[in-house]
Amino acid sequence: MIDLRSDTITVPTPEMREAMAKALVGDDVYGEDPTVNRLQEISAKLFGKEAALFFPSGTMANQAALLAHTERGDEVVLDSDAHIYYYEAGAMALLSGVQPRLINAAIFGREELEQALRPKNVHFPKTSLVCIENTHNRAGGTVWPIKAIHEIGLASKDHGLKVHMDGARIFNAATALDVSVADISEHVDSVQFCLSKGLAAPAGSMLVGSKEFIQKAYRARKVLGGGMRQAGILAAAGIIAIEKMSKRLAEDHANARLLAEELEETGSLEVNLETVQTNMVMVDVSKTNRTGEQWSKELLAKGIKVNPVGPYVLRFVTHKDVSREDIINTVRAIRESV
Ligand SMILES: Cc1ncc(COP(=O)(O)O)c(C=O)c1O
Repeated sequence: MIDLRSDTITVPTPEMREAMAKALVGDDVYGEDPTVNRLQEISAKLFGKEAALFFPSGTMANQAALLAHTERGDEVVLDSDAHIYYYEAGAMALLSGVQPRLINAAIFGREELEQALRPKNVHFPKTSLVCIENTHNRAGGTVWPIKAIHEIGLASKDHGLKVHMDGARIFNAATALDVSVADISEHVDSVQFCLSKGLAAPAGSMLVGSKEFIQKAYRARKVLGGGMRQAGILAAAGIIAIEKMSKRLAEDHANARLLAEELEETGSLEVNLETVQTNMVMVDVSKTNRTGEQWSKELLAKGIKVNPVGPYVLRFVTHKDVSREDIINTVRAIRESV
């Protein structure tokens, strides 16, 4: 099987498994797990923030960030395809009691943000937070330019708002731009990033920000049931994810580009090459008179797993467990089917 459904399917490397077996551990709810503490120190330093906190999942880290940044009844500005709004099971309403104010663009600027804000008036909710997603999942792994993040950071400051970045795949963004994750994070208050996607750890996400923010997020994590005990076993893989696996993502990006260019050449499949910036390829199959669902079934019979993400859109995600040869074989199989 060639599995191009998501980078979440990556399995831990033998080095990770060895580090997990040997990890020094303690009770992390007491703050006594040395490996978790090391992962948190490494993360805070790398992102240029004061503190970091280890979470079981990206969803929990994002939702803890919302709990820490907002109060019930607040409004949160984010885009209509943002994972926090679209894919987190309504958690922002359920847990933080906040309401979304949606912008119809994955990457937006000061103007769109300011249009979403309301004047101070008893009729309107209080807006307290802006969330941006980098890379943007439903937009096909597209990257926020640093200038655009800076613009949102400045505009948010002008209006007294905090900025949270859902940076599940921030290392893909850093690789694409050839900058550090600290450069990307400089103008936002908090960042969530995943260890368990392209970086191949079996589980875990980090939240980074100021000491005061992480203190609040620490309490939120406890409320959400995310306090883990000997979590150093997972953190050991997380350290390798950051220090080693983040350095190989250009390979996945090159594979995505190859796949995109080859599929575009078929003529009947449409790929917007401009949006292929990292490890995802969105393919419009509408010209083939078959739905994404039909394509997905057909390819499965040929040993290729791929997810439909719209009635006529397939999403291919490259990662460490698909090789260049797998991509060439995928292209061959698709060419036979168009
Ligand atoms: C952009 C983005 N944010 C957050 C998450 C949530 O991560 P998790 O699956 O670890 O909860 C995902 C997962 O796919 C994601 O793509």
